[in-house]
Amino acid sequence: MPIDLLPSILAADFSRLGEEVKAAERGGGSAIHIDVMDGHFVPNLTFGPALVKAIRKYTTLPFDCHMMVQRPDDFVPAFADAGVNWMSIHYEVCPHLHRSLQLIRDHGMEPAVVINPATAVDLLIPILPMVHHVLVMSVNPGFGGQRFIPYTLTKIRRLKELRQNMGLTFRIEVDGGVDRDTVASVVDAGAEMLVAGTAVFNGNGVEKEAQALLDLARKADPAA
Ligand code: DX5
Ligand code: ZN
Repeated sequence: MPIDLLPSILAADFSRLGEEVKAAERGGGSAIHIDVMDGHFVPNLTFGPALVKAIRKYTTLPFDCHMMVQRPDDFVPAFADAGVNWMSIHYEVCPHLHRSLQLIRDHGMEPAVVINPATAVDLLIPILPMVHHVLVMSVNPGFGGQRFIPYTLTKIRRLKELRQNMGLTFRIEVDGGVDRDTVASVVDAGAEMLVAGTAVFNGNGVEKEAQALLDLARKADPAA
């Protein structure tokens, strides 16, 4: 599977988000990662559907919406209408995960599941055939700029093994602390969709930073 970079606008300049999204695309981003936080599941607040709709016209890249909210089902129709393409929901807050993933698909989006660092990959086995991708959090969600948690590499490896054993084609995404120092290790473990916030939007030029990170990632790709 190809290696893709997904710039996370959580670290972007919010006063000029449209331009930031365009720069992320020019830098080689394959999709835009949008972190939705509700102040309950995580202790932070971010973007709603109106903002997503406002930036939709700045790019044709897919919008990858990471729902860090206590009740994701409630927001599925509004984010679908706003132009989200892929929606990932946390295993930890979905007692009826199969139904929630189906709801996302019914609204025309690709469903995905996310797990926190302390949640085991094997809990996902029953629903792996339903998902477009699995997002492995490599920090505890809620904030950008945190340090990568190394044991999550074992989880990425396990997920890759499960995919092979089960004959599936879902993609493996990683989010949190992915930067020039850690990117080779996540790619080596098997991640193909790389979310990066501060490593891309760090004030040193979005296009240059994105391209440099992507180059390092592709060099580390065991399949290349
Ligand atoms: C954290 C978010 C991430 C965040 C990553 O809760 O899910 O998407 O933007 O930021 P960095 O890349 O700075 O760790
Ligand atoms: Zn995220």
